[in-house]
Amino acid sequence: MTGGCELCDSSRMNIQSVKGMNDTLPSEVGEWQRVEAAIRDVTRAYGYGEIRTPILESTDLFLRSIGDQTDIVQKEMYTFVDQGGGSLTLRPEQTAGCVRAGVQHGLFHNKQARMWYYGPMFRRERPQRGRFRQFYQFGVEGFGWPGPDLDAELLLLCRRLWRALGVDDVKLHLNSLGSTAVLERYRGQLVEYFTAHEHELDEDSARRLQTNPLRILDSKNPKLAPLIASAPSIIACFDAAEREHFDGLRRRLDQADIDYVIDSSLVRGLDYYTSTVFEWTTDKLGAQSAVCGGGRYDDLVESLGGKPTPAAGFALGVERLIELVRLADSNPPAPGPDVYLVGLGDSGSLSALVVAETLRDRGLEVVNHCGGGDLKRQLRQADRSGARFAVIIGEDELAAGKVTLKSLRDASPQVSVAGDDIGQILCERLESAP
Ligand code: HAM
Repeated sequence: MTGGCELCDSSRMNIQSVKGMNDTLPSEVGEWQRVEAAIRDVTRAYGYGEIRTPILESTDLFLRSIGDQTDIVQKEMYTFVDQGGGSLTLRPEQTAGCVRAGVQHGLFHNKQARMWYYGPMFRRERPQRGRFRQFYQFGVEGFGWPGPDLDAELLLLCRRLWRALGVDDVKLHLNSLGSTAVLERYRGQLVEYFTAHEHELDEDSARRLQTNPLRILDSKNPKLAPLIASAPSIIACFDAAEREHFDGLRRRLDQADIDYVIDSSLVRGLDYYTSTVFEWTTDKLGAQSAVCGGGRYDDLVESLGGKPTPAAGFALGVERLIELVRLADSNPPAPGPDVYLVGLGDSGSLSALVVAETLRDRGLEVVNHCGGGDLKRQLRQADRSGARFAVIIGEDELAAGKVTLKSLRDASPQVSVAGDDIGQILCERLESAP
């Protein structure tokens, strides 16, 4: 065995996490839980039910949904052949899994469905700020509604989540790709236009001209910006029904006071979209500006073996959202328990064990000191734990039937209180403390 590993920077002595895949440490997990609680509240408020699908799916599922010419499928999937000979892939996104599950379990059969999911996705991209190889998505999908009312509902749900988390630095970009027929017509126009300007294209875009011309519109190369700005607009190819859908969505967004910009270069990186597409972006996160993306995918259920079922949804990158929450929240709650129990000597530590249980019965977060030591040592650890209060039980306290209550976050004097009253007093002090 050799010591090093290109994938995970590991040596024989010191195995590291896989590149682009992060640990979330106990000190960081509070922010995640706050976002997760907001997600649960918001999805419940709109009547969406949670779905959990496997992290591994057949590779075919992603080839047939995301599209075999997309960057995700061409370059970014973690795919392997299992012992049974089948090709499996770690999910790079979950819309395909939701559709697969819905078809498999008859969820769309003469029924409509609102569902959400949360969990890790895997893409082998070049890691950088806001871009990882394992990252978390929260996603929402609605099945069975063809109109712009569903599209608007999804965007309202997003806005409610931003507001719940105090995020206001996000901007909504909106476009529509029309039907498959429109998209085909438009693709032809784009090929004609970019072929006439082929000498101006960079290497990436020249390749995309052959494989996926729409994605040229998505190029981040500033030198191509004027060429892209003058490209034909898809909206000009729409028929009356598509125009009505797009206008219907815009009317609803205006009614709900949601600001947006029409962005005709927004095409998204997955092939299943038709009609409405959108992205919420921010300028606070550097290059990885897309916080959330989605749209309609009216043909996907049928192409994965179900009955024709209109659908729309979105997914957001949880790491990116958490970074925005962090930037917006200048005064995050200090991580740490409510109370740290200090038990001195054998009898003090025995009593602390019991008092800690009675405090937990009251719903308090309590850390009971382990490992013994004198008062100074135990109080140092109490302070390090981030606790708001220490409750001290030593021989004097035991003899008097009392405990000592000490605030760890301000200079208020410590007090001696009856052992039976400590729960009540702590609850009151915690309630009144800022
Ligand atoms: P997506 O645009 O590929 O769409 O991903 C959605 C969001 O996931 C992005 O806006 C970004 O915030 C986050 N994201 C993507 N890749 C990474 C990465 N490597 N590291 C960190 N965050 C990342 C979808 O996945 C579609 N399934 C969305 C959808 C649902 N459309 C309809 N329904």
